Amino acid sequence: MKYFIDTANVEEIRQAAALGIIDGVTTNPSLIAKEGRVFEEVIKEITEIVDGPISAEVVSLEAEGMVKEALELVKIHPNVVIKVPMTAEGIKATSQLSKKGIKVNVTLVFSSTQALAAAKAGAAYVSPFVGRLDDIGLEGMELIEEIMFIFKNYGIKTEVIAASIRNRNHLAQAATAGSDIATIPFKVIMDSLKHPLTDQGIERFLKDWEGTKK
Ligand code: E4P
Repeated sequence: MKYFIDTANVEEIRQAAALGIIDGVTTNPSLIAKEGRVFEEVIKEITEIVDGPISAEVVSLEAEGMVKEALELVKIHPNVVIKVPMTAEGIKATSQLSKKGIKVNVTLVFSSTQALAAAKAGAAYVSPFVGRLDDIGLEGMELIEEIMFIFKNYGIKTEVIAASIRNRNHLAQAATAGSDIATIPFKVIMDSLKHPLTDQGIERFLKDWEGTKK
């Protein structure tokens, strides 16, 4: 499973990239707003840190505006992927952009029929939001399983990004479901490296090692 980092904070991206396990980055308007910086500048800086797909989201609600924004954003770097919302206008924009060879990540996907429509429109990626489904009392991970099953049925090449990942369990479950990618907040990436028994093990090894010097 590929690991994308879900943040617009370049310091987090730098630290995660140094681990050597980051394959791409996703941002969204909320994450960009948190940084209080110019959108295009942040995206450019991210492309200089990670050599992989970097999702930048459009904010227009009409297909025409989305395409216009996309055509500007792709000028930033060849790795820029255009994130469009899962609406009828978003699907229209995805069809147009994919025909031009521009990679699209259809975001805010909450059902398998939405994912299927995005794939049919030529999206390179679909982003089902696991955590936000859990928030309303549903099993977000079941959506990943369902989409993987459907895409396998038809040999669909669109890659599934398990998004809205909130904890280590989500990450493990996304991998178990065979998700192509998980986009993960920095904190969850770091948490996923830890285990209390690892810490205890190191402590005991070092203590025993010290004992050899007496
Ligand atoms: C996906 O690309 C989104 O940026 C993200 O995963 C949303 O996560 P949230 O529900 O924690 O805001």
